[in-house]
Amino acid sequence: MSEFPLSKARVDFPLLTNRVRGKNLVYLDSAASGLKPWPVIERVGHFLTYQTSNVHRGAHFLSDQATVAYEQARQKVAEFIHAPSPSSVIFTRGTTESINLVAQAWGRANLKKGDVILLTEMEHHSNIVPWQMIAKEIGAEVRALPVKPNGDLDLSRADDFFTPNVKMVAVTHASNTLGTINDVALLAQKAHAVGALILVDGAQMIANHPVDVQKLDVDFYAFSGHKIFGPYGIGVLYGKKDVLDAMGPYQGGGSMISEVAFAGTTYHDVPFRFEAGTPNIEGAVGLATALEYVQKLGWPAIEAHEKALLDLATQKLSEIPEVELVGTSANKVAILSFNLKGAHPSDVGQIMDQENVAVRAGHHCTQPLMKVLGITGTVRASFSVFNSAADVEQLVKAVIKAKEMLL
Ligand code: ALA
Repeated sequence: MSEFPLSKARVDFPLLTNRVRGKNLVYLDSAASGLKPWPVIERVGHFLTYQTSNVHRGAHFLSDQATVAYEQARQKVAEFIHAPSPSSVIFTRGTTESINLVAQAWGRANLKKGDVILLTEMEHHSNIVPWQMIAKEIGAEVRALPVKPNGDLDLSRADDFFTPNVKMVAVTHASNTLGTINDVALLAQKAHAVGALILVDGAQMIANHPVDVQKLDVDFYAFSGHKIFGPYGIGVLYGKKDVLDAMGPYQGGGSMISEVAFAGTTYHDVPFRFEAGTPNIEGAVGLATALEYVQKLGWPAIEAHEKALLDLATQKLSEIPEVELVGTSANKVAILSFNLKGAHPSDVGQIMDQENVAVRAGHHCTQPLMKVLGITGTVRASFSVFNSAADVEQLVKAVIKAKEMLL
């Protein structure tokens, strides 16, 4: 296999044929949103054009067809993350809603005053704020496992954190700012050893490496469709079936009920109990096509391609003395955060944008992590299957340009 096995994937992404300011676009912001390949665009277009209809409701041909497509999408997700059954797969708006669902539906019923929700210092705001909200309401406490200066999780004092009053461990699989991949299987063992459940934010892992929720032995796994070449507004919450079965609903409305009377309502089975209202049907079928696209590229090629890009970019940026890398774990997804010593990350990002290099600059929705690291933000380049060595070259040129203009 060549060093960049996916050098042909670029043609699958029509947005990259757009010229921006008369030049090619170098898209290095896949950690924020994955671009959409043709098959996904066509599948969503096909659904809206020829299959539009509501699911689980109508007694007519189109509705039946939409229901089959929607439930096949659930089946595809289950297969993709190795869930034991599609009934463990709930469609949500995205990672954020998946986490809020657990914090509200599981948290309100299971947490009590004095309980601890254990996070890490590298969490995205979407895996902090929902827990703070429920903790405040209940009188529970939110604590965070520390992060080492290189961006690895510091488990040297793990016993001080994994105590019997911990009821939920909520951790990211891969950090959106540092790239660090956490040892989720180990964290699941530690959580279960003290009687806690574990929820994993898989937003940054899902497009980069295979995920097997059963091998990891996690209770909940959340991810977003748009980070894995799928549409916006669709996401997934996987939950262990017995845990989901024991949970009450998140939102009330159509489809999530068994029977409604003014005297009281009984609820539908899992997963429908957690999907009140008309779902994002074209999102779900588009997501299924995105997952098929990833399977077609193949994990060995994706992993080798992204590692080659990350290694090359890390090496090239390290050669610029003014560059300070943020997050140097040995085990990373293809995310490269850095700062130019003495320059504000937003200014660097703006100059890079003028060079048509799209990166994200700022705190990346990880303000507590920024505080721990003693910085206000970083510039973040993130790589995907369509990026090339030429993109890395443009990245380096843009950083040098920023350096010349700002320092
Ligand atoms: N969570 C996304 C990011 O890291 C939006 O950019």
